[in-house]
Amino acid sequence: MSNNGKIFLVGFGPGSKEHMTQRAREAIAESNVVIGYSTYIKLVKDLLDDKEVVRKGMTEEIDRCIEAYDQAKQGKVVSLISSGDIGVYGMAGPTYEVLLQAGWTPQSDIEVEIVPGTTALSACASLVGAPLTHDFCSISLSDLLTPWPSIAKRLDAAGDSDFVVALYNPKSGRRTQQIVEAQRILLQYRKPETPVAIIKSAYRDLQDIQMTTLDKMSDQKIGMLSTVLIGNSTTFVQEGLMITPRGYANKYDKLTGETKDGEKAGRSLSMGLLGWKDCVRKYMNDSQNHSLKDVARHFDAPMGEIISAISEANEGQAAAGYEAVPIPLENIAAVLDTTADWGLLRAIVRAEGGAISELMINSGEFTQRGDWLNIENEHFHLHIDSSQLSSAWFVRHTDKLRGVQFFNKKNETLFNLALIKIDGKFDKNIDEKFNRAWNELDLNEKQVKVVNE
Ligand SMILES: C[S@@+](CC[C@H](N)C(=O)[O-])C[C@H]1O[C@@H](n2cnc3c(N)ncnc32)[C@H](O)[C@@H]1O
Repeated sequence: MSNNGKIFLVGFGPGSKEHMTQRAREAIAESNVVIGYSTYIKLVKDLLDDKEVVRKGMTEEIDRCIEAYDQAKQGKVVSLISSGDIGVYGMAGPTYEVLLQAGWTPQSDIEVEIVPGTTALSACASLVGAPLTHDFCSISLSDLLTPWPSIAKRLDAAGDSDFVVALYNPKSGRRTQQIVEAQRILLQYRKPETPVAIIKSAYRDLQDIQMTTLDKMSDQKIGMLSTVLIGNSTTFVQEGLMITPRGYANKYDKLTGETKDGEKAGRSLSMGLLGWKDCVRKYMNDSQNHSLKDVARHFDAPMGEIISAISEANEGQAAAGYEAVPIPLENIAAVLDTTADWGLLRAIVRAEGGAISELMINSGEFTQRGDWLNIENEHFHLHIDSSQLSSAWFVRHTDKLRGVQFFNKKNETLFNLALIKIDGKFDKNIDEKFNRAWNELDLNEKQVKVVNE
């Protein structure tokens, strides 16, 4: 036997012979030793004649990796096998970790080859229709190695971002409540009737498929061998098939029809990266009555992005009367100094938990000290961490609004300051000061644009 051992990390697909790749078969055929969890060994037993077979239990994952390395060091060719794709919640990661910790490098004598396989989510999806034809994510509900707050945060983000979600390891004899919690989190964002498919043992003898909805998901039979596919806001079920549209309806009148007005085949949507802010201004101009909040809600975009869209309006083409000009962050202290004599201001401050404070302050009560923006008087002390600040804008609207708006790194509102009208009018002096500060920023912005062009 040559001294050069080799480790194949083989994903053998969902479990049926037909769905195993040619390379997976070759890898096992070339191996002297096959190591795997006992259920996996059973699934490939027809390929194991003449092989040394090492069966390990579920919890002996690291033992499997160490065994593979030890055998390869003796010059043997070893297949470490895993269902689905070995790199997806599989043994590829732990094996590399064990090898690297033992001083192995890709240049050393023992070659490692990963053989990819069909992962459970695509195998399961193929049995119920086409639920993954748009953006999706997979989340494992196993908290054996991952803290629950991390899992909950991922579920929340997936719900908020409208991903189709594939849940791996959804439930076991001991872990019964994780699926209930996942359902609760996703129901904050998704309709109760959102389609859900629960696929057990895809492409194996005991294959079982249940079609249900999100509100009933956790009442269904779910186990260790199930994968749960949860639709997004557009997923539908027709003729028993769960389908997530690819998005053609955004561009074409019918699937085979003409493109809609303003759209072009082979080009980004009018709502694509380069066009969507034009759509924001058009929407605002078409109906002059939308509040900025309505606009942000309509486009499902944070307020900072809407203000940025307003600021990009061409000269003389403000968005429904709104205008905005950015305050360069490096100048913020100097610009804020100019607010000191703006008189009475309305300050609207949003707390992370959702509370909104509306305060009447004197402009002199708004100061910056070190990293903190402070609003302080004898009634309250409010401190805003300026390291959260990622953009700030002067915003005005005809004779209705004069203000400064501050946004965090997610472009969500941190706080606003607005001049207050007295008897329905802004104080003439203060309005002039505001407009003077505005003009300086505007000039500066135009110069920056010229330099960048
Ligand atoms: C440790 S993960 C292994 C994933 C595997 N490496 C893959 O790529 O599919 C185990 C989980 O995969 C899912 N799974 C694996 N094989 C499956 C099958 N044939 N049918 C349904 N779900 C399966 C189940 O959610 C199970 O709890």
